[in-house]
Amino acid sequence: MSISLHTKYLGLDLKNPLVASAGPLTGRIDTLMKLEEAGAAAVVLPSLFEEEIVSEGVEIALLYDYQNEGFAEAQSYLPEMEDYHTGPDTYLRLVRQAKQSLTIPVIGSLNGTSNGGWIQYGRMIEEAGADALELNIYYLPTDPDTTSLQVENQYLELVSGVRGAVSIPLAVKIGPFFSSIANMAKRLFSTGADGLVVFNRFLQPDIDLETLAVEPRLVLSSSDELRLPLRWIAILRSYFEQSLAATTGVHNPEDVIKLLLAGADVTMTTSGVLRHGPGLISDILVGLRTWLEEKEYVSVEQMKGSMSQRNSPDPAAFERANYIRTIQSYSSKIA
Ligand SMILES: Cc1cc2nc3c(=O)[nH]c(=O)nc-3n(C[C@H](O)[C@H](O)[C@H](O)COP(=O)(O)O)c2cc1C
Repeated sequence: MSISLHTKYLGLDLKNPLVASAGPLTGRIDTLMKLEEAGAAAVVLPSLFEEEIVSEGVEIALLYDYQNEGFAEAQSYLPEMEDYHTGPDTYLRLVRQAKQSLTIPVIGSLNGTSNGGWIQYGRMIEEAGADALELNIYYLPTDPDTTSLQVENQYLELVSGVRGAVSIPLAVKIGPFFSSIANMAKRLFSTGADGLVVFNRFLQPDIDLETLAVEPRLVLSSSDELRLPLRWIAILRSYFEQSLAATTGVHNPEDVIKLLLAGADVTMTTSGVLRHGPGLISDILVGLRTWLEEKEYVSVEQMKGSMSQRNSPDPAAFERANYIRTIQSYSSKIA
């Protein structure tokens, strides 16, 4: 029996549900080709940062300078990325070259926080041939006078601006820090997002006790971190038909299977391929196929969402956030 791994994401027909998410390996043609060879169904290029566009001539190295508080989102990633693109022109070239070199869909990525002229770059990424655009919004509100409504409206204005600029499918990559994620998702969809990518993973600062400097630390993710997107994919899938991509903590076939059961259309990997190389993708796909065979599924489509909150035998389990049960079961183990 032949099993179909096919899935649909942002209206794109993908041969399987494993996508290489934005990161160093998707920023170079040679590694992009290796990701495709290993079986990735699509790739998301690293983000073009708003700051790269608005401050002409700015060195990307500056953006990664963790001392510089003005560039919070750029600080979230690897500080030394010599091979990373260094401005809009280089970025657009990467999109064009990726399209020429790959047969799988290429998703461009914009990272920004303000609604301004820079969002026209979304159109340029489209013109360069991208099959879809991911808008990565990382905004860390720290002003005590800024309300959650103001922050959320800023997201929506941004999405609306980018939506107006491009006609390719648009995914919005968000973090988990909203008071009401489901409501935010609803409004992002009604503002024109075709899909959500949950959740972005931010680097948190650390204090070096020798130098007394504040430093960002890049720690690659582990499978434990999967459970935050897992919960929210299961909940969001119960309310929304739009595309859902899961990012953070995807490292093995089991991770992918759980997210698909919860209702993800695709699962994404960055840390996993950074740690193990692009070959991880083919290993995961073998494991996924084997599991589907064992459980007698004929396709990924058939299993997708079969354990979303609504379809789960215990829907309340996805909402349980307090410790009582967990503590009880934990105590009985150590007793
Ligand atoms: C070194 C590095 C660079 C990244 N660069 C980007 C980026 O340019 N744009 C973006 O949206 N996400 C970026 N990410 C986030 C990843 O795309 C991904 O969402 C996150 O790492 C969680 O997935 P993981 O657990 O598979 O690593 C980066 C992550 C890492 C580790």
